[in-house]
Amino acid sequence: MMPDPLLNFVRAACLAALALVASASAMAQTAASPAASKPAGALPAAPATGLGLTPAGISFYQDLGGKAGIDAIVAEFVTILLNDKRINATFEGVEPERLRAKLAEQFCVVSGGPCTYTGKSMAESHEDLKINNAQFNALVENLQLALARRAVPARVQNRLLARLAPTQRDIVTR
Ligand code: HEM
Repeated sequence: MMPDPLLNFVRAACLAALALVASASAMAQTAASPAASKPAGALPAAPATGLGLTPAGISFYQDLGGKAGIDAIVAEFVTILLNDKRINATFEGVEPERLRAKLAEQFCVVSGGPCTYTGKSMAESHEDLKINNAQFNALVENLQLALARRAVPARVQNRLLARLAPTQRDIVTR
């Protein structure tokens, strides 16, 4: 049975709030410096938390299948979202190649991979789109479907969703 995506997302968001202080600051940093090119592996190493947590090291990136795995996940994700009638009107006129490339960079960075995010900040790229929570949740469902189709383990799926959860506050504006 498919897990309730909303529930799953809420769970992922809680995970983020609980554990991933480092991820939140990393995303904030991404959002704050739109076109700034960061050197490879520029995600700050998480400080020792005393909670037995490890920073997003290269192993998370590898759990996603490295560059090839992330490219395949993103290709699947973009195909799904461009066919989702709930949200695809928002993507009219968007160059799919650029979207794929920027998402792949973003997923690479948030999973601790050796990449630089060269796209716009989440606030900047979404501010005019007037995105609501229902649209945000639809896109998260699409990402979950893509991850499942690429056979990414649930633990790794949730970890990626948790890493992306803090973007909601910059993306949802109504
Ligand atoms: C977890 C949630 C989301 C993430 C991580 C995300 C990530 C991104 C990224 C990395 C870009 C590329 C920015 C660039 O071109 O420099 C982008 C652009 C875009 N996103 Fe999102 N996004 C999310 C949610 C949404 C939602 C819910 C919608 C609409 C339903 C949306 C619509 C768009 C559109 C239309 C663009 C292209 C904007 C442009 O070309 O100016 N995004 N997003």
